[in-house]
Amino acid sequence: MKLNFFNVLLICGLFVAGLASCTKGSKAGNDASLQLIPYPDSVTFNNDSLDISAGFNLTVQRITEDKKAWFTDYLQSADLPVSDGNKLILNLIVEDGSGEVPVSDEGYRLSVHRKGATITASSETGIFYGLQSLLQLSVDKTKIPLLDIQDEPRFSYRGLMIDCSRHFFPLDFLKKQINMMAHYKLNKFHWHLTDGPGWRIEIKKYPELTQIAAWRTDSLWKDWWATNPRKYVKEGTPGAYGGYYTQDQARELVKYAGERHIEIIPEIEMPGHSEEVLAVYPQLSCTGKPYTSSEFCIGNPETFVFLENVLSEIAALFPSKYIHIGGDEASTEHWKNCPKCQALMKKEGLKDEKELQSYLIKRIEKFLTSKGKRLIGWDEIMEGGLAPEATVMSWRGEEAGIKAAEAGHDVIMTPGKYCYFDQYQGFPDTQPEAIGGFLPIEKVYSYNPVPDSLTAETAKHILGVQANMWAEYIATQKHAEYMIWPRLLALAEVAWTKPENKSWDNFKTRVNHAIPYLQSKGFNPYTLSKQPFLETKTDKEQNAILVTLSSELYPVDIRYTTDGSQPSVASEIYTEPILVKDSALIVAQLYRGNAPVGNLVFKRVDYHKAIGKKVTYVSPFSPYYPAGGDEALVDGYVGGLTHGDGRWQGFNVPEMEFIVDLGKTHSLHTVNMNFMQNGNAWIWFPKQVFVEISQDGNTFVPLTKIATKIAKNAEGTLFEPFVWKGQASARYVRVKAVSNGTKGGWMFLDEVVIW
Ligand code: ACM
Repeated sequence: MKLNFFNVLLICGLFVAGLASCTKGSKAGNDASLQLIPYPDSVTFNNDSLDISAGFNLTVQRITEDKKAWFTDYLQSADLPVSDGNKLILNLIVEDGSGEVPVSDEGYRLSVHRKGATITASSETGIFYGLQSLLQLSVDKTKIPLLDIQDEPRFSYRGLMIDCSRHFFPLDFLKKQINMMAHYKLNKFHWHLTDGPGWRIEIKKYPELTQIAAWRTDSLWKDWWATNPRKYVKEGTPGAYGGYYTQDQARELVKYAGERHIEIIPEIEMPGHSEEVLAVYPQLSCTGKPYTSSEFCIGNPETFVFLENVLSEIAALFPSKYIHIGGDEASTEHWKNCPKCQALMKKEGLKDEKELQSYLIKRIEKFLTSKGKRLIGWDEIMEGGLAPEATVMSWRGEEAGIKAAEAGHDVIMTPGKYCYFDQYQGFPDTQPEAIGGFLPIEKVYSYNPVPDSLTAETAKHILGVQANMWAEYIATQKHAEYMIWPRLLALAEVAWTKPENKSWDNFKTRVNHAIPYLQSKGFNPYTLSKQPFLETKTDKEQNAILVTLSSELYPVDIRYTTDGSQPSVASEIYTEPILVKDSALIVAQLYRGNAPVGNLVFKRVDYHKAIGKKVTYVSPFSPYYPAGGDEALVDGYVGGLTHGDGRWQGFNVPEMEFIVDLGKTHSLHTVNMNFMQNGNAWIWFPKQVFVEISQDGNTFVPLTKIATKIAKNAEGTLFEPFVWKGQASARYVRVKAVSNGTKGGWMFLDEVVIW
């Protein structure tokens, strides 16, 4: 019987006596789900289990003796005992093509039967993945279910990028991550090797890159970034921070990853993010002076000599099909004022500096093609015209990826909203400092890398998906693991499992099970939010707000109150959205049995007087952060933990001002506005908020003036209520918020609550 995940639950409930507590539904016990991540294509349970505590005897077909020895060592180190004396056979078979059910290159069949286990695949990659499934089933080293799995990935590109420039991560750390990536069937490691904060790969022709450009004055990126000018120092200088990988180390990592069926894709940044190169070779910048530019001078032929020499060594070092050339966030300013760049533009008939950048990318693509390589770049490489064979990594959203796919280019989806693992994953006040944003594991899990707008044909150009671990705020190995795991497990399932076999509720049980495994292997995963999450939805027909509570932890209950009191073991257990007709102060807490877990969550929810009323903006909100547009501030939706969640409205002005028309005169007692601050994202509380009222919309009288109580340099993501309470009567409420004066700074507001 061929089953997907949902039938499996049903069948379990009906027939499988051998599996303990096989129950149905999202609140089913953990045993109801197969403890596999990513979830496989199809599973048939065979109503019994196999005792594997004695281990297996390994036999192979069409696998060399050397490789058999490698598999034996690998399984031993993964704690699955393999030796000749064992009764159970683990048979690994690479097919000769005559198999009944062909499996794709990376696919496999795993059969656990009374005599042991058989893994069949058309390649050693498939065998390797079959073994990962067996290893996951065998974690407890006791009994595993008799079953047949047929499995293959949804996408051929399943990646993780680690930024080794902003902070340096040693080779052993990378091996550890790569080993665990392979366990979850990821197959691409994108190695961000160069960037302004440090060059990280030995290039024989240019020793200064590792003697100087790999070393900086401050260990923490944040401190170094704040210095002016940012300096590099010679290797060995007291206090110097940095590091690099020798070419031998790079080869070692390539081999290590290759054995685990992971391709390493090196990234060499150009033409921007190159301050470190230009500090040691300033002649390659437009000004010719160090510490003045992030971009290579494209008009200087020496730039191409340098880049091609570097890429020649990189191409020889990395057997990968792809080389990533960066391409993101280059400024055109220097090129505009550079005689060499302008002369090249004239000679080549390039109409603007975007086309100049495109000229560089196209030339580099030609060079890489001559080396038998394909070019990948961040989505800015589309600007000014995309190189003919380039693969696009869509990071500023999905639009560039959609455009590229429609134009016949391959695409890797890595939109910041779902794939940037440098964002917060829990309540910011419980987390180490992050770059901002909020990307909980459920959101990663919810991602579908194929946008609905693509046809079946263009969708084929979506090769897959990648998580990016940028390291601005991530200085230690422990912290890096904390940001990567277990979110990467969600991404692994996004990349491998077909949408019809995905279920957040089921994944939640599996990921909770996987965390102790990660810990047992010496990892430092985030152990999921100890607070429930709260979301609101406005229902104008019922004149109410629906409040949804959810939890990542499993199994737990969510207990809550609506009157602001502290929940107790006697409080209601959340089962369905809470309907708030007027006003409630929801307080919620997780419980394991009778024991509270973690911190309380408070949220004031109001179906208030201004909901649905007209707002006139005297200063406009930013088109980049409209939230719900003109209604956003009076739609009943409160913002979440990131300014990018579509609930927060952003104002990029020194003074924001809007007027709410309540339609008729009301007696008023409260005006309440929650602003957000996150200095890393250039968002600050207003210095002062003025609230005024009017009967006619022309003559306003002041109600209050409220100053922020929180310092501009307070760290993290913060929320501050600006509140007036009193007695008044008015039809119009005018709000003016004055920024703290930081040039280019933002103010973010989610709702103006008026009672
Ligand atoms: C990027 O995040 N600048 C690719």
